[in-house]
Amino acid sequence: MRLLTAPLLPLLLHSLTTQAYTPISNDFLKAIPPPAETDFNIDSGGLLAPLLIPRVPGTPGQVKAQRHFVDFFRENLPEWEISWQNSTGTTPSSDGKQLPFQNLIIRREPPWTKQRGPGTASFLTLVAHYDSKITPKGFIGATDSAAPCAILMYLARTVEKELAKMWARQQQQAAAASRERAGNEREEEKKMPGPDVGIQILLLDGEEAFVSWTDTDSLYGARSLAAEWENTTYPAMSPFKNPMRQISLFVLLDLLGAAGPTVPSYFQSTHWAYQRMAALEGRLRQMKILESKEGTQPFLHEGGKMAAEFSGHGFVGDDHVPFMARGADVLHIIPTPFPRVWHTAADDGKHLDMASVRDWARIVTAFTLEWMDVQKTGT
Ligand SMILES: *[C@@H]1O[C@H](CO)[C@@H](O)[C@H](O)[C@H]1NC(C)=O
Ligand SMILES: *[C@@H]1O[C@H](CO)[C@@H](O)[C@H](O)[C@H]1NC(C)=O
Ligand SMILES: [Zn+2]
Repeated sequence: MRLLTAPLLPLLLHSLTTQAYTPISNDFLKAIPPPAETDFNIDSGGLLAPLLIPRVPGTPGQVKAQRHFVDFFRENLPEWEISWQNSTGTTPSSDGKQLPFQNLIIRREPPWTKQRGPGTASFLTLVAHYDSKITPKGFIGATDSAAPCAILMYLARTVEKELAKMWARQQQQAAAASRERAGNEREEEKKMPGPDVGIQILLLDGEEAFVSWTDTDSLYGARSLAAEWENTTYPAMSPFKNPMRQISLFVLLDLLGAAGPTVPSYFQSTHWAYQRMAALEGRLRQMKILESKEGTQPFLHEGGKMAAEFSGHGFVGDDHVPFMARGADVLHIIPTPFPRVWHTAADDGKHLDMASVRDWARIVTAFTLEWMDVQKTGT
């Protein structure tokens, strides 16, 4: 990704439907399981270590990373539905050869929306890119974006337990209520057991430029997926017209895992969501659940940013761009300044700050649990 300076005013103006959810309780925050010792271990096994290899599109590392994701979800989270969106393209350095760009889409939605067919649920959309940059030779991209991918795997495993419980409870309650009302209810008045809200994780390919960042040499996977989603049409009566409209919020994690990150609030339209995440970071710190030493500023330090301060600010070109251009609301979790190791051979496992990796995992997971309103129907 790279820093652009052009303001994006027209995109800030589109409307936003905010969800009316309540803050998650301290008990729920305390109950978020700490990442296991093996999860983010950099040497073997776990979620992260298998990703600490070069992952350039069209090379064996790409395939290994893909297998790691698919095996993890198949073995541990069989309820999460895996699909692919593949494309091919030439790059300025591929000599006319087509390279494969293969995005993974991993979804979990309430059982009742699944029954009603595609285009029914909205999705909190959590995103990271899994490809790595072709140069310098041997580049691993631990913060860029192996660690964010591993964080999303931890998140999926952690939220699954709460989602399964909540959805089962909501279905039981709905069934009991409908037995009570039996006879008094016409078919069309039947209510869904809970909100039609799910989660999807996008592991995107081909984010990095092959030669130097331009509109056509970057974001290969994201551009292809966004175009295809915009072009997909669901049946006429579906609540959502296409998969693009199902994105309730596009949360993009990038360049996470170095010590002392400071992540600005980039977009006024999603500042409310930034504030929710910042508030959760603050509560987790206060409860001494986070491990990283607080620097001069918290990770999310712009909770108090005012509307007037948004105009004319810098903006980081990244995988959200083709989605944002088509109307998605974006929360971009990327530090400014970038980590010191950015796009150098030093962006490897050894240079990760594990306390920060683990803290990001907790913060983004807490945000997701709060978004999904897991405590809504009691414990
Ligand atoms: C997309 O690519 C993946 C990885 O190579 C492959 O397993 C999958 O079958 C492909 N899917 C489609 C729809 O082509
Ligand atoms: C989208 O659909 C239009 C009209 O059917 C077609 O011309 C265009 O090539 C499609 N674009 C993509 C990216 O599939
Ligand atoms: Zn990069």
